[in-house]
Amino acid sequence: MSSLVQFIRNFDHLILDPMSGSGTLWINFARKNTNIGIIAIEKRFKRAVRFFEKASQSNLTNIFIIRGIFEDSFLILNHVKFNVIYIAFPDPWPKERWSKHRFYNYLDKFQKILKPGGKLILKTDNLQTAITTFKKLIERNFLILKLIFNYIEPLKSLRTDFEKLFIKKRSPIISLVAKNCAGFLK
Ligand SMILES: C[S@@+](CC[C@H](N)C(=O)[O-])C[C@H]1O[C@@H](n2cnc3c(N)ncnc32)[C@H](O)[C@@H]1O
Repeated sequence: MSSLVQFIRNFDHLILDPMSGSGTLWINFARKNTNIGIIAIEKRFKRAVRFFEKASQSNLTNIFIIRGIFEDSFLILNHVKFNVIYIAFPDPWPKERWSKHRFYNYLDKFQKILKPGGKLILKTDNLQTAITTFKKLIERNFLILKLIFNYIEPLKSLRTDFEKLFIKKRSPIISLVAKNCAGFLK
């Protein structure tokens, strides 16, 4: 916990990826943006370890990896303000009995740890996830800056592991970028 606090203190600009997978994108990004701190959360042990190994091999000190579920992390991230929350290909949890796992049910909590003016970025291949997130963001005073259907990330180094798979399978990807406008007048 103290090392997380120290990590956060080292950076003015922070990005949160609450479902990072094994984080190839962040390895590329962190090398080129050493002044930006990246906090990544991943539920699956093997993926988190793979991410950790890649970051260590590259001697990257601007990535902090938490192995666990993002739902539990709000407690420890309560006082952090992120510039960007980056959510790429969240599991859709289609069955109703799984609905509590859908990430957009936690948008209130994500918004609390996002700076006013901070950005929430979503990439998904799931139309329902995109539509529901879009509606909930509007309800919460987010300004939609970008909504692109059939999005293909032009910079290959910025494609996540799952993004590469979906591009290969020719599955349409939706990209949404929204700015947090809550709290500007407070
Ligand atoms: C489809 S993958 C996408 C991974 C990565 N964002 C990418 O685009 O390559 C979804 C990831 O979210 C992780 N995950 C699912 N629910 C989670 C949760 N509640 N907290 C943290 N990670 C979670 C899964 O283990 C999986 O690695």
